[in-house]
Amino acid sequence: MAEPGLTKPGSTQLGPTDPDTLRLFFALWPDDATRTALNHTGKWLHKHWGGRRMRADTLHLTLAFLGRTPVDQLDALTASVDAIEADAFELTLDQSGYWRHNRIGWLGASQTPPQHFDLVDALNTVLQAAGFAVDARPHMPHVTLLRNSMGGEVSPCEPVHWPISDFVLVASRTEVEGAHYEVIRRWRLNE
Ligand code: 2AM
Repeated sequence: MAEPGLTKPGSTQLGPTDPDTLRLFFALWPDDATRTALNHTGKWLHKHWGGRRMRADTLHLTLAFLGRTPVDQLDALTASVDAIEADAFELTLDQSGYWRHNRIGWLGASQTPPQHFDLVDALNTVLQAAGFAVDARPHMPHVTLLRNSMGGEVSPCEPVHWPISDFVLVASRTEVEGAHYEVIRRWRLNE
């Protein structure tokens, strides 16, 4: 049997409808102005690449994905993240990209500030130390804008300047109208 908190990322071991678990991930959650700008880029990219546009209220950048996690591990999880000291920064998202394997159209950064990777490393470090399994793949900062899209050639997009002053823990649920995300905790970064 898995030890508490040792769920594999994306594991279905606990069952998708298990009421005692939450599907969790850490993310950068856009302020209203950034959300509007990201949504604008999503509409533009959709005209070129088609597919299913992500709803404006769901747009985010995943920092660390935990997957199904027992609810009784939440306190241990948030306590471990409370120890993180990381700095605020600005992220400029200026590059559209396409992944053929999952048909995702996304927005990323041609230059990612070191503070972003410091935050991701800090999260992975404290989560692993507390016994939570995190995704082992290298982190590739991106905001998913389109699913089931075609990709293709596209002109350079207008940059989105995103001031990052906090990060969040999100619970994800799949509902009839699509994914529903609930921000359940927020941590401030040092200004
Ligand atoms: P995606 O946008 O590239 O699909 C909620 O599902 C968020 O977690 C999405 O941003 C999604 O990334 C990300 N996510 C889903 N499964 C993941 C996994 N196994 N590893 C890392 N991130 C994942």
